Amino acid sequence: MSRRVKMMLDKELQISRIDERLYGSFIEHLGRAVYGGIYQPGHPAADENGFRKDVIQLAEELHVPIIRYPGGNFVSNFYWEDSVGPVEERPRRLELAWRSLEKNEIGIHEFYQWTRKTGSEVMMAVNLGTRGIADACNLLEYCNHPSGTKYSDMRIRHGAKDPYNIKVWCLGNEMDGPWQIGHKTMEEYGRLAAETAKAMRLIDPAIELVSCGSSDRGIPTFPEWEAATLMHTYEYVDYISMHQYYGNRENDSNDFLAQSDEMDDFIRTVVAACDYVKARKRTRKTMNISFDEWNVWFHSNEAENDIKENHPWQSAPPMLEDIYNFEDALLVGLMLITLISHADRVKIACLAQLVNVIAPIMTDEKGGAWRQTIFYPFLHASKYGRGTALLPVISGTKHDTSKHGEITDVKAAAVYHEEKNEVTVFAVNRNLEEDVELTTDVRCFEGYRILEHIVMENDDLKAVNTLQKETVYPVKANDRSCLNDGYMTSVLKKASWNVIRLGK
Ligand code: AHR
Repeated sequence: MSRRVKMMLDKELQISRIDERLYGSFIEHLGRAVYGGIYQPGHPAADENGFRKDVIQLAEELHVPIIRYPGGNFVSNFYWEDSVGPVEERPRRLELAWRSLEKNEIGIHEFYQWTRKTGSEVMMAVNLGTRGIADACNLLEYCNHPSGTKYSDMRIRHGAKDPYNIKVWCLGNEMDGPWQIGHKTMEEYGRLAAETAKAMRLIDPAIELVSCGSSDRGIPTFPEWEAATLMHTYEYVDYISMHQYYGNRENDSNDFLAQSDEMDDFIRTVVAACDYVKARKRTRKTMNISFDEWNVWFHSNEAENDIKENHPWQSAPPMLEDIYNFEDALLVGLMLITLISHADRVKIACLAQLVNVIAPIMTDEKGGAWRQTIFYPFLHASKYGRGTALLPVISGTKHDTSKHGEITDVKAAAVYHEEKNEVTVFAVNRNLEEDVELTTDVRCFEGYRILEHIVMENDDLKAVNTLQKETVYPVKANDRSCLNDGYMTSVLKKASWNVIRLGK
């Protein structure tokens, strides 16, 4: 094999303990994420509350610790009061972000109940588009204050005696984006976010707050937005958000898989902006990142425009229903490796989204729920990527791409779970033509053996899963890795996602 990569792992060489919220996700009132996704009364799989049990089961399988809600673009014109209280009294509203009809059958209380079933925390976003400080405070009082005040007593009257105690709150969504309802300039947003944060902390000092960063790396105001808004918010917030979606629009798979390197660069630049403000403020406080929207998103763009332009005001139209193929799963794997590699600063991340809308889990209106290709790398990272991210020293062969120049054949991350005595290597061979031999120096993990080598590969980069047939799924390929005298040799097949687990 002419392509070789060497990697050295040492349990003392660490990036950081991984915050388990790195494996978060996102549910927005958009398309069939809520209605027809998590909630479909009358469906054979629905429970007594109308929640689909097949979806709950798949969400539980992904072991998602935190779920962002209720948007997204949706939140920028969200009237939270419409979504609480007796369902039959809740209004139907024009939902402007996605030009849909919002029934408000599912609101804050129901979503919170749903997360009790999936074992996830809620990460709540407040509307800083068309509303502001007072409404954000009222919502926080409704959700987290125990009792004895207007909004906490309202929650109790609505049937929730105990507060929800929602810990993480997003101060709006993508407020830099001209498409956003109530889009703000950096100065407008910085001031509003800082004042909202200050007031919210007075109500509940235990909350964590996320200030909006740029909605992607390509937007003209990046990275000035980060520096300018943080000058206002730095003292009052805990995280700045990042969002990024990629797509293979030009059908250049080789180049498509290079995009995770842009994500690396994006994170490094946001960290630099945070640290610049830290220096300007002469503070010891370090700002962390909530990468609260990331995924592949492009397959459904035309259908989305058609629905918004030609068929508006439907309830739960099938929007953003990307059907993911095998190469999308490889990029999702690469993006997960990138997030793990920045675990020292990225503390929260949300795969956008979870059900039906650019999602790993899909539902059929009349039939079952099924796993898209991207389900699997996320599952593996969420399951085996908890512990401490190690700092791997990697060197090896490279190949050329059309727009990203030379890139490494292999991208890898390693996670050490001290309590379980396990080490997991996540590696993507993004060379589409050739296999690579990966030699990993694991001499400091004495007494460890290979538990398994899981692989996802497919001759067809465009292979997809459907309700009827799962074509892309992981298999065990334990003969691809062997361990001798502290060196592990693994064959990484061309275009493959690999999870190599070692333990005692
Ligand atoms: O996740 C879909 C949309 O992408 C979100 O509503 C928005 O925040 C982003 O532009």
